[in-house]
Amino acid sequence: MKILHISAECFPIAKVGGLADVVGALPKYQKDLGATSSVVMPYYNNTFTQNNTFETLHDHYISLGHEYYHFKVLKLTNHQLGFDLFCIDIPDLLYTEFVYSNADTKRFLAFQIATLDWILTLKATPDIIHVHDHHAGLIPFMMSCSFKYASLKNIPTVLTIHNAQYQGWFSHALANLIPPFNYEKTGLLDWDGSINSLAAAIKCAWSVTTVSPTYLEELKIKANGLEALLQHESKKCTGILNGIDWNVWNPETDERLLKNFSKTTVISGKKANKKWLCKEFNLDIKKPLFAFIGRLVGEKGADLFSDIFEQALTENKISILLLGSGHAATEVELAAIPKENFNTFIGYDEKLAHIMYAGADFLLMPSRVEPCGLNQMYSLRYGTVPIVNATGGLKDTIIDIDEKAGFGIVHDGVTVEKVTTAIHKATNYYHAKAFKKNLKRIMAIDHSWNNSAAAYVHLYKSLKH
Ligand code: GLC
Repeated sequence: MKILHISAECFPIAKVGGLADVVGALPKYQKDLGATSSVVMPYYNNTFTQNNTFETLHDHYISLGHEYYHFKVLKLTNHQLGFDLFCIDIPDLLYTEFVYSNADTKRFLAFQIATLDWILTLKATPDIIHVHDHHAGLIPFMMSCSFKYASLKNIPTVLTIHNAQYQGWFSHALANLIPPFNYEKTGLLDWDGSINSLAAAIKCAWSVTTVSPTYLEELKIKANGLEALLQHESKKCTGILNGIDWNVWNPETDERLLKNFSKTTVISGKKANKKWLCKEFNLDIKKPLFAFIGRLVGEKGADLFSDIFEQALTENKISILLLGSGHAATEVELAAIPKENFNTFIGYDEKLAHIMYAGADFLLMPSRVEPCGLNQMYSLRYGTVPIVNATGGLKDTIIDIDEKAGFGIVHDGVTVEKVTTAIHKATNYYHAKAFKKNLKRIMAIDHSWNNSAAAYVHLYKSLKH
């Protein structure tokens, strides 16, 4: 069975968030299950594309309304990824240093059209087309309604929703950019008066998955306007929890760490990494270290961080280290917090992130919305206790220490008080006997892709036409 994943991001080529990690890992694990997966993504101008060689497989033009754009399909020549990678090169639109911009309607529409034009030329078409988020969301519509792609109609399509906040809206006035389709089908593109790429994908894909079971239930109540649609289409929707790349995220072999460790050496291993962090960021190694890694946006609770951190630092003998970037106002607020038992790295640094998972004692994830969340899984694997809000995938993966078989700290809701209470509980736990023993336990929790990759393959098989 041949699966083609279509996505705006894929690790390690281009990563903005967890979408990249999933698209860069899932294909490898599907391969082990007899499904040959490959990935199509835009060809961006970044370190990966500059440092690797690609061969040209296809060279043509696409039309976007009345405009023509030259495009190429490039294939990565080496086999470092463990799956085939195809990049759509449209120099005028996609070859940028960034992944997202405010010209994305045209950029991703061109990407999707070029991808389908190329698939039309293939002798052996994929058995399943698996699209990720709204950037590839018009593909199922075009395959079923654009005259040009009629021969692709019977290929089953799967949409995975990683984040339903962003939906790829654009005006009906731009409908002429989509290759001609039966106008009676315009309703499939529409949601609330505009073209909505994610809504179109939910309507037209043969099957829809969300990245955790709880997120699917939440979307039926709160989905940035798509609640009724998700309720209506619920029969074809399934929640499949993400996994993490077990080989990339392995504290025993991770080359980014100062010291590698296993379950048996977790205490000394974590200490060595913590020592480096504390030295680098001027923190006290004797105090429990709380880390946050991620985007500084409302979904992650970042607007409350400065209040939470100041209160938590006053009430407890702890240190806090933050890695991330995002809303300018939040960055300014964080810069105003005295650098005493507190520090930040504003930006993103993959190596530092790995060392933080290894060296921190707790990971803070007070997300208001978290479709799956991968950081809590990385944190478990590296023996760091997650402190999470009970939402989406966080609810599906973390059990509070006060519950049966619990191993993390779970708060219900995101307020300064709830998060600081959780930090206080964590601080007490750090000094309790059970703490060290728990580290070995959390490192043994299996969040590898094995189960989830099999769930996807099972789904593909059920979609035989
Ligand atoms: C998005 C979600 C995150 C999820 C990731 C991968 O970034 O916000 O919760 O883990 O996609 O599916």
